[in-house]
Amino acid sequence: MMEISRLELDGRETVISIVSPGELFHRHEGCLDLLVVDGNTEAILPRDPAIPVVVVPSGEACKEFAVLEHLLGEFVRFGLRRDSTVAALGGGAVTDLAAFAASIYLRGLDVVLIPSSLLAMVDAAVGGKTGIDFRGHKNMVGTFHPAREVRIEPGLLRTLSDREYLSGLGEVIKTALLGEPVLLELLETRSEAILARDSLIMKDVIRRAVTVKCDIVASDFREQGRRAFLNLGHTFGHALEACLGLGKWTHGEAVAWGIARAMEVGQALDITDAAWVQRVKDLLNRYGYPITAFPAPAECLLQAMEKDKKRRRGGIGFILQTKPFTTVQRTVDGDIIRSILENRQEVRR
Ligand SMILES: NC(=O)c1ccc[n+]([C@@H]2O[C@H](COP(=O)([O-])OP(=O)(O)OC[C@H]3O[C@@H](n4cnc5c(N)ncnc54)[C@H](O)[C@@H]3O)[C@@H](O)[C@H]2O)c1
Repeated sequence: MMEISRLELDGRETVISIVSPGELFHRHEGCLDLLVVDGNTEAILPRDPAIPVVVVPSGEACKEFAVLEHLLGEFVRFGLRRDSTVAALGGGAVTDLAAFAASIYLRGLDVVLIPSSLLAMVDAAVGGKTGIDFRGHKNMVGTFHPAREVRIEPGLLRTLSDREYLSGLGEVIKTALLGEPVLLELLETRSEAILARDSLIMKDVIRRAVTVKCDIVASDFREQGRRAFLNLGHTFGHALEACLGLGKWTHGEAVAWGIARAMEVGQALDITDAAWVQRVKDLLNRYGYPITAFPAPAECLLQAMEKDKKRRRGGIGFILQTKPFTTVQRTVDGDIIRSILENRQEVRR
C-alpha cells in the first residue's frame, strides 16, 4: 500500500492510497460491513466475498432516487449501525451514490471508496462530494461527506472500455493544465504507454493527478474559490452534453472539447498566450479528442450555458487560462461565446 495523500476536510481525514489487488478489500482499519457494486464491477469481486454485497444498476442509472431508497433499505436489512462502514467499488456513479447513502443513513456512516474507472480514481472518489440526480438535473441532491479511505488499484483499469478510459484521461489532462508540469510532460511524451494503460506509468499519472486535486480541494472544500478551477472546460462541456443528450459523447470528450473552446475564449479576450493555446490543442489532438468538431448548434449551447449554474449578471462564468498553469475566473459576454461557437475568426470584444 502506497499512501498518496492524507486529506483533511471538515474535520474528517481521508487517506488515499495506491493498493495492490490483495489489499482492495482488506479490513485493516475496521470492518467493511457492506459493499456496493454495479453489474460491471461485480465481476471484479473475489468469488466468495466475505462482505455482504449490494448490486445497483451500472452507470448514471444508479444515481436515481429509487435506487437510493433501495440501497438505504439494504442498509437496514443488513443491520448497519452508526459505527458501520460502507464500501463502494465502481465508477463515479456508484461511488457518488454509495457515499451519499452512507452520508444520510444514521446521520453519516464511514465510507471506503474503491474507484474502478479512471475518472473515479482521479476525480469522483477524491474530494468528498456525494450525490444523485433528481428530476433530470445532474447531481441536484447531495452532501459533502469525505470518505475515510480511497483505495486505488490501477490494474482495475484493464477491463474498462476504451471510451470510458479516454473519458477519464480528459480529466487527467485538465488537472495537468491546472498545475502539474511533470504530469503535462508525461502526457505529452508518454502517450503510447498511457493509452496502453501501462500500470507503472499509470501509477505515476494517477498519483500526480490525485495530488493536484487534493491540494485544490484542501484549500477550498466547499467551492467558494479555487475549487471552481476544476471546472476548466466544463461550462462548454456540460452545455454540449445537455445539447447532445447523455451518452452521445463521454464526459471526458465533452470536457476536452470544452477546454479547447475555453482556450479560444481566452484568445478572444486577449488574455491567453497563443503558444499555450497551441500546446493544449496539440495535446488534446494527440489523444484523439474531437476538438475541432462543432457538434451542436451555437444557439442550443448558449441556452444551455445560460441555464447552467455558472450564469452571472453580465454574462456567463468561465474558467480560463492566461499562460501555462495559470487559471482565472471571468464573466464573458454571450456575443463572444456565440462568435466562437459559430467558429468565426473575427471576435467582437
Ligand atoms: N463526486 C465528485 O466529485 C464527482 C466528480 C466527477 C464526476 N462525478 C460523477 O461521476 C460519474 C461518472 O463517473 P464514471 O466516468 O466513472 O462513470 P460511471 O460510474 O458511469 O462508469 C462508467 C461505466 O464503466 C463501468 N466500469 C467502471 N469501472 C469498470 C471497470 N474497472 N471495468 C469495467 N467496467 C467498469 C461502469 O459500470 C459504467 O458502466 C458521474 O455521475 C459524475 O457526476 C462525481
